[in-house]
Amino acid sequence: MTIDVEVLHPSHPGFAEENTPKSWDFQSNKTQSIYPDIIDIRAGGQPLDLKSSIRSSFQELNSDGLRSFPSLLLWDEQGLKYFEQITHIPEYYLTNAEISLLEAHGHQIACGIKPGTILLELGSGCLRKVNILLQALEALGKKVDYYALDLDPKELVRALQELNPSRFRHVHCHGLLGAYEDGMAWLGRDTNVTRSKCVLSLGSTMGSFTRADASKFLEKWAKVLRQKGNNMNEQPDAKMIIGLDGCKDEKRVLAAYNDPGGINKEFILNVLKNANSQLEYEALSHEDWSVKGEWDADGGKHVQYLTPIREISFEGVHLRKGERVLVAYSHKYDDKDKSQLWERSQLKNVISYTHNDIPYGTFLNI
Ligand SMILES: C[S@@+](CC[C@H](N)C(=O)[O-])C[C@H]1O[C@@H](n2cnc3c(N)ncnc32)[C@H](O)[C@@H]1O
Repeated sequence: MTIDVEVLHPSHPGFAEENTPKSWDFQSNKTQSIYPDIIDIRAGGQPLDLKSSIRSSFQELNSDGLRSFPSLLLWDEQGLKYFEQITHIPEYYLTNAEISLLEAHGHQIACGIKPGTILLELGSGCLRKVNILLQALEALGKKVDYYALDLDPKELVRALQELNPSRFRHVHCHGLLGAYEDGMAWLGRDTNVTRSKCVLSLGSTMGSFTRADASKFLEKWAKVLRQKGNNMNEQPDAKMIIGLDGCKDEKRVLAAYNDPGGINKEFILNVLKNANSQLEYEALSHEDWSVKGEWDADGGKHVQYLTPIREISFEGVHLRKGERVLVAYSHKYDDKDKSQLWERSQLKNVISYTHNDIPYGTFLNI
């Protein structure tokens, strides 16, 4: 099924073909639509409805004894735009570290990927980093299918357009609109089971899960990746490439999440706007909240909160002035944490590419 991205997509009934922006395809010597191939794999084909999870995450305390905002509220169209800006902030060392690792080792990683592989990127965002790997695959003439999985249709279209896949002859690029669980069900479909697969999680996205949830999440992916085809002579290849931040230097971490221009603050505050739009009324006012970021040395994590600056009531819950409401975790994985993560998720680490100056790593696992 192809999605309708409001007026953007050519399959929209109101869309006139002659108005479609075109690019030149050198193979066919014809112009072609620049609209990317996006498959809607969302359960029920519907956008996420976060009303009930907003209510329950406010009413119930999590394992750290905190009320929280559902983390999915971070990732609407505006949130993704803010996050892309964050990746360009010099203090946000994670992106530059990962880019330099992919530039240094992209060729070697690409050499290990079989032709015919499905590359599935979880939470693909702006595609600036994966582009380096796709270029390495293209240079090697590897015919692969790359699928960018993310939540927001407009941002997925924009990211794929900026990637400009028509310049690739061997690498075919597609979008998958949906959540991680939808991607898991999609990858496990009969048509995909017989193909070699490589699942990518870049940007230390695993850090936003609690450590226990990260292990469970990766374990589930490992199971899907290990599903066997019927042909016993040729078993598909299975890999996971995972980017993880291991930096536990408090000063560096705090600087990364507290940029002087305040973009990170806007990114976190956008959760309030998104919560209002999900609840369909002005439940939460920007003026009533401040953003707090803290380094938790014992937990090896940076934590971002929204805190009411006065007493407020919300959806039947009374919040004290100064009460911390969790928005985002960024767990950091040093060597010990990583070994535990691989062990608990039943993944075998085969190669580790680590940065010389920053403890950031890209890990190839099976
Ligand atoms: C930390 S950003 C990383 C983006 C990109 N991979 C990078 O390295 O810059 C997390 C990404 O995961 C996506 N995401 C978060 N939760 C998701 C979910 N449940 N299902 C699918 N994508 C999700 C967000 O929309 C966002 O693009």
